[in-house]
Amino acid sequence: MLNTINTPKYIIKLISAQESYQVRHPVLRPGRAFETCIFDGDTLETTFHFGIFLNNQLLGICSLFKNEHKNLSDAHQYQLRGMAVLAEQQGKGLGKLVLNYAESFIKAKGITTIWCNAREVATKFYTNLGYEIFGEPFEIEKIGTHYAMYKPLQ
Ligand SMILES: CC(C)(COP(=O)(O)OP(=O)(O)OC[C@H]1O[C@@H](n2cnc3c(N)ncnc32)[C@H](O)[C@@H]1OP(=O)(O)O)[C@@H](O)C(=O)NCCC(=O)NCCS
Repeated sequence: MLNTINTPKYIIKLISAQESYQVRHPVLRPGRAFETCIFDGDTLETTFHFGIFLNNQLLGICSLFKNEHKNLSDAHQYQLRGMAVLAEQQGKGLGKLVLNYAESFIKAKGITTIWCNAREVATKFYTNLGYEIFGEPFEIEKIGTHYAMYKPLQ
């Protein structure tokens, strides 16, 4: 008799800004007003939101904004924002999967540098994926210490 192996079938795809709020709000702005999870530029044509699903349930997200960092010289940059995985789903590789997909998506559009303002607790996640810190740490009110990080997409 054949053994059955149940491998989770994750689906990663573009989603709307509105859909991303289902994860962005509880994970990144817990206990704060819903509006605090809406970012300027969320609905611009140049902004992309990505979601990772299992059984039609959205478990993780990230968003990419056409935005240049003043200390990076590359003319083809995008900023990663709103990187989040539901608390009970963290540490299973979902963040890595959705971010890898998002990076490939913009790389195919000619983008050669991705950067983000990373929370201190998440810097290891990003260094694992090839990001490097640049500049000095800085504070964001109500959230904490952040580090600018970037990765060449090659
Ligand atoms: C940060 C976050 C998006 C990572 O997603 P995740 O699905 O938990 O991470 P993954 O399981 O894909 O981890 C990928 C790799 O990073 C590592 N990693 C993930 N989070 C880490 C952490 N906090 N510290 C150290 N390493 C971490 C994993 O060990 C894994 O390494 P491996 O590939 O060598 O096994 C998720 O934990 C999260 O939503 N955290 C709360 C919100 C947050 O801080 N978002 C970032 C804002 S800048």
